[in-house]
Amino acid sequence: MTARRIVLLGPPGSGKGTQAVRLAAWLGVPHISTGDLLRSEVQNRTTLGLQAQGFMDRGELVPDQLVAEMIRKRIEGVTGFVLDGFPRNINQAKILETVTAVDRVLHFQLNREEIIRRLSARRVCPQCGHVYNLISSPPQHDNLCDTCKTLLVQRSDDTPEVIERRIDVQYAREIGPMLEFYRKRNVLREIDAQGDIESVYQAAQRALE
Ligand code: AP5
Repeated sequence: MTARRIVLLGPPGSGKGTQAVRLAAWLGVPHISTGDLLRSEVQNRTTLGLQAQGFMDRGELVPDQLVAEMIRKRIEGVTGFVLDGFPRNINQAKILETVTAVDRVLHFQLNREEIIRRLSARRVCPQCGHVYNLISSPPQHDNLCDTCKTLLVQRSDDTPEVIERRIDVQYAREIGPMLEFYRKRNVLREIDAQGDIESVYQAAQRALE
């Protein structure tokens, strides 16, 4: 049987969001991205958004209790999901376990050089949220969204300095205990995220069967 409660782990820019969209459509379950949820809170200037913004701008993790409450509300009553960006540390993994079981955890592996190359070339549509890459998946017309023709923008945390901090502070420091946690539960699968989008997608699909 194909797993339906999925967690994606990996460094920034390893393709979690790109693959989460595809996997969620394939499985018919919601794609839940804490990054997208937080950016929407920031944009709407909610209390949570105002609390989160400084952490996000600096490339640091938003405090666990703020993110946990948000994700708890989003997951309640849902029977399947592709979770993209949560958990980010062992504390969040333990919180998640109190809310739901997880069938499979995919860990995308990508080297630092390629992370920086991909994130420097990432452009997003501020209107519909579609994610492009000037090298691997450029828009058809210069800097315009293919679907809604809105001018594409660069995420404010995709600067070289903040990318380095996201890799070191959010990922390298936190990933080890989480991998151990999920390895013990026998749900962890490693994915080589170096290939093109289609080949990574196929590897992820195989890992869910
Ligand atoms: P979030 O938005 O989750 O950022 P992230 O984890 O750093 O991940 P990214 O969105 O940068 O990368 P991705 O792996 O999704 O890659 P993508 O598919 O876009 O979080 C933002 C912030 O919110 C955090 O910094 C933190 O402050 C806060 N936050 C979020 N969750 C939190 C939590 N749980 N707790 C506390 N704080 C939290 O791909 C990248 C680019 O590469 C794109 O251009 C894409 O087109 C391209 N690409 C993708 N795959 C390939 C491929 N195979 N080949 C070539 N190009 C590719």
